[in-house]
Amino acid sequence: MSFPPDTTRPIERAARDLVNSSYAIALTGAGISTESGIPDFRGPSGIWTKDPEAERRAFETYRKFLSDPRAYWEERLRSPSLLGDLSQVEPNPGHYALAELERMGILKCIITQNVDDLHRRAGSKRVLEYHGNAFRLRCVSCNARYEREEYDLQRLKDEGKLPPLCKRCGGVVKSDVVHFEEPIPTDVARQSLKEAWRCDVMLICGTSAVVYPFANLPRIARQRRVEKESRTESGLYVVEQVPATTIIEVNAEPTPLTREKVSDYLIQGKTGEILPAIVEEVKRLTRS
Ligand code: APR
Repeated sequence: MSFPPDTTRPIERAARDLVNSSYAIALTGAGISTESGIPDFRGPSGIWTKDPEAERRAFETYRKFLSDPRAYWEERLRSPSLLGDLSQVEPNPGHYALAELERMGILKCIITQNVDDLHRRAGSKRVLEYHGNAFRLRCVSCNARYEREEYDLQRLKDEGKLPPLCKRCGGVVKSDVVHFEEPIPTDVARQSLKEAWRCDVMLICGTSAVVYPFANLPRIARQRRVEKESRTESGLYVVEQVPATTIIEVNAEPTPLTREKVSDYLIQGKTGEILPAIVEEVKRLTRS
């Protein structure tokens, strides 16, 4: 893959930033999965872009669950997923590139908004699923997670026994997918905050960065400062507070993080092409 100079230079810069990092993490959104055939939400052919009414309905889902879990489940079992059949898709070079950076000991964690399980299937081990996982269920009382196969949902429906109940505490079980206005599960929320505060490189891939609280994570990382010693021209010895984290975006288009200069730089293009190029450059730097 060859890139124009205004893409090659930031790719080389990102590789250097990653090689020089001590704790790099990645944040990902639907954009990293579009090259696997899964539509994103707000890109030019995104699900919400093409059907704003579907987004408005999605804002009702969690309220429906709270008021009538049985009806929530009957609706879920009746209608197909907006993302299509996720069991038929495969990771793409963007997912594999992040898994490779983890294997190289550079990437310590991925915090993803995606529910498609593709980072884990690409070989990434430390993945925080900020908006849950479409193949899992979760107890809303004790946060216990279950593989979807652990419940025969159709039989529960036929026998009038919906909603499924937690095998551990008896609480109500819903899809692990976090709906609009649903709280982020406390265990994932807490760990994600720790990662955002700890990292010294944050690689943000394929997200429009408009959904909160996920979009707060880069802003939190931006707040962290470290002391840097320097000497002025007159020989004065000074210590100043400088940003502790380098924030890099890889995205098809600029985002609020770009415009508000929360990120240090944007490498504009496809994650499936740019991330493998960054990995190749990291390998070149670590070989030499
Ligand atoms: N390479 C790089 N960027 C891409 C690619 C690609 N191949 N394909 C799409 N993009 C960009 C789009 O231009 C857009 O800026 O990725 C971004 C995807 O943004 P969204 O569609 O808003 O997806 P995301 O940011 O993950 O949405 C966050 O919104 O609806 C909720 O819960 C849903 O987790 C989702 C959340």
